[in-house]
Amino acid sequence: FASNIENEGKLQKTCQLLHDEVSHYNWVGFYFTNGDKQELMLGPYVGAETDHTIIPFGKGICGQVAVSNETFVVPDVSKQDNYLSCSIDTKSEIVVPIFKNGKNIGQIDIDSHEINPFTKKDEDLLNYVCKKVSEVI
Ligand code: SME
Repeated sequence: FASNIENEGKLQKTCQLLHDEVSHYNWVGFYFTNGDKQELMLGPYVGAETDHTIIPFGKGICGQVAVSNETFVVPDVSKQDNYLSCSIDTKSEIVVPIFKNGKNIGQIDIDSHEINPFTKKDEDLLNYVCKKVSEVI
């Protein structure tokens, strides 16, 4: 999905917009399912560079959302066992799945430097963004 150059630009702009407009969004990025492989691939993102360019299903918060098909809010990452750290500055995370034709094709991942910043407002906003993304890609 993100390998299409036009889509990549749209997704990159979406990351930048969210990152710039919401003060508690410090890392914003997309992961997409890699074909039939049971893994996620990093797509466009804004924020610190991450080692986690490929994440097996089930691993970390992202990998768990690839399997559960449900939004995962982590108010405090230090309390999570199955968590992949990208930066020591990250204190909390939200991952929202993206569905296309009913299939979980990827997700938006947001890290924050604040503890417990995510509310229903974030979930509503990100659900909306994921829906729009699924329509254009
Ligand atoms: N924290 C994520 C890994 C992705 S990086 O934060 C960008 C996780 O536990 O899946």
